[in-house]
Amino acid sequence: MLEISNLTVKYGNFIAVNGISFEVKDGEIFGLLGPNGAGKSSTLKSIMRLVDFQGKIKLFGRRIGVKEMNDIGYVPEEFMLIDSLTPMEFFEFIASVRRIKRDYMERLNRLIYGFGIENHVNKPIATLSMGTKQKVQIIAALMHNPPFLIMDEPLNGLDAKSTRILKEILRLNVEKNGAVLFSTHIMEIAEELCDRIAVINRGKIVAVGTIDDLRAKAKTEGTLEDIFLKLTGEEESVRGIVNALSR
Ligand SMILES: Nc1ncnc2c1ncn2[C@@H]1O[C@H](COP(=O)(O)OP(=O)(O)OP(=O)(O)O)[C@@H](O)[C@H]1O
Ligand SMILES: [Mg+2]
Repeated sequence: MLEISNLTVKYGNFIAVNGISFEVKDGEIFGLLGPNGAGKSSTLKSIMRLVDFQGKIKLFGRRIGVKEMNDIGYVPEEFMLIDSLTPMEFFEFIASVRRIKRDYMERLNRLIYGFGIENHVNKPIATLSMGTKQKVQIIAALMHNPPFLIMDEPLNGLDAKSTRILKEILRLNVEKNGAVLFSTHIMEIAEELCDRIAVINRGKIVAVGTIDDLRAKAKTEGTLEDIFLKLTGEEESVRGIVNALSR
């Protein structure tokens, strides 16, 4: 589905993403894990053409242009909404710029009721709670039923019921042979959902594969958190910090 080769993202002289390559296959949920500032969001933004990048990014074997955008549902890390619109107006706006056909209304209504925002769809987005705004972003990404979902920490701010619903939607999407690429800091979610994971640290991929592959690479029998801390070289540092704080 998605092929990324030699991706580099620079902000001025600073290299945020340093020549990474990976592939997301059809029918796969692929997770990006990494410490704060590792380059996860920059990687996802480059697929959406929100940052300048070097390297190759292909979806269905094609460079990503305006047309390919219709095959992607994207949930950004920070809210990219229009505060003065209501959610309903925002959904109509997205449908029109993405040229989504009129038959999206039934699915949109299911999503609105599914995520429980039916009482909020006619209030300005500026007045909504953080979790409700996140639900608006998620629904806007899902309303046209795209095969490829890119979600940057999508569970941020979601309550337990919506978390469960989103997890089920991601699974349904890959059952239909779509694919999902998402970043998260929640190890349990990564463990539960991901077929494969790439661990990114300081702009480079330090390990990629199934949890078993990562475990073998980290040489630990522990949890994904243990594996993660080992692969990112933070295990010793955590011990030192905790020791110092306990004195
Ligand atoms: N617009 C920008 N201008 C300058 N530097 C940036 C910009 N966006 C990101 N960076 C820097 O690039 C690096 C990677 O940032 P990025 O947002 O991709 O990390 P991340 O892995 O998503 O982190 P987090 O887990 O905190 O969301 C960081 O050092 C960040 O400070
Ligand atoms: Mg980020």
